Amino acid sequence: MSIEEMYQEMKKKLVDIVPDVELRYKAELAYEINRLKREKNAVILGHNYMEPALYYSIPDFVGDSLDLSRKAAQTDKDIIVFCGVRFMAETAKILNPKKTVLLPSEKAGCSLAASITADDVRQLRARFPGVPAVAYVNTYADVKAEVDICCTSSNAVAVVESLGSDTVIFLPDEYLARNVARETGKHIIFPTLDGPKEAAATEIDYQMIGWHGRCEVHEKFTVQDIQAVRQQFPDVVILSHPECSPEVVAASDFSGSTNAMIRYVKETRAPRYLVLTECAMGDNIAAANPDKEMLRLCSVRCPHMNQITLEDTLKSLQTNQYVIDLPEELRLRAYRSVERMIAIG
Ligand code: 13P
Ligand code: SF4
Repeated sequence: MSIEEMYQEMKKKLVDIVPDVELRYKAELAYEINRLKREKNAVILGHNYMEPALYYSIPDFVGDSLDLSRKAAQTDKDIIVFCGVRFMAETAKILNPKKTVLLPSEKAGCSLAASITADDVRQLRARFPGVPAVAYVNTYADVKAEVDICCTSSNAVAVVESLGSDTVIFLPDEYLARNVARETGKHIIFPTLDGPKEAAATEIDYQMIGWHGRCEVHEKFTVQDIQAVRQQFPDVVILSHPECSPEVVAASDFSGSTNAMIRYVKETRAPRYLVLTECAMGDNIAAANPDKEMLRLCSVRCPHMNQITLEDTLKSLQTNQYVIDLPEELRLRAYRSVERMIAIG
């Protein structure tokens, strides 16, 4: 494919989303990335939050965290370039120790992954001995290594139910945990680690034990936002990610992972939609559904996902940066948790 053909391909999808002058420039970058990708036998995985010009030009696969973990597990390419955030690239490395995994920006972190350490998990498990522990995939490898199983927003309820246990530790997203507790009919507590040890034994009325991690994007959406949008657009259908508060989820028409929200818009017929999640995904859905109107609340952005640009992805392939490496002993322990999750689906 020539640069002109690349530009025409992108234009088909993005004519109403990205101004032409930018599209031409981005098509040149995308062309060079795709050329290098073939030359180096690399695969590019792109999260649903990538900006439209990247999302629609260079990834071999796009999807939510669970989907991309599965794709990472299946690839036979030598290099995996992860257009997403660090915990996602680490998951790809956990599943592919022999392959080179590259993350295009060192700054692509995540407030949830930064909210808990491996030592926090050890202390919590010591406080509630014998209770199985689930870590959201939005955690670093050392935290995954301390738990029994991982989950994503797609399979959190199924993972909790698969444990067949009355009590479950669920880390680190407070809101996802509250939403899962509501769906599974469990009562949740949020213990502090510095209280007296005996307190745990007296906290008998719990079934889920959570942690106070928050997604810095989804925690910002409020019920007032929803009310204001509904007042202005009474026919709007509102979708929220389960990292939003339970009140926001309850006030929405649908809640699900990024893939589930994309599917919902595709398969339903409403005059307009609002997705309460990273704004770029609204652009990507709008591009795929030109007959549907997408409202967006774009003052709330994920500063980590936004680090990943076409420019940095090109540099990543040119210079082999930034390589994700994990100590083998740690990787093996984290692998168990990720593998158990993938087996559940
Ligand atoms: P998904 O697994 O739904 O794609 O979510 C990932 C994420 O980081 C949401 O903020
Ligand atoms: Fe992390 Fe939230 Fe950004 Fe997702 S949107 S990567 S959970 S900070």
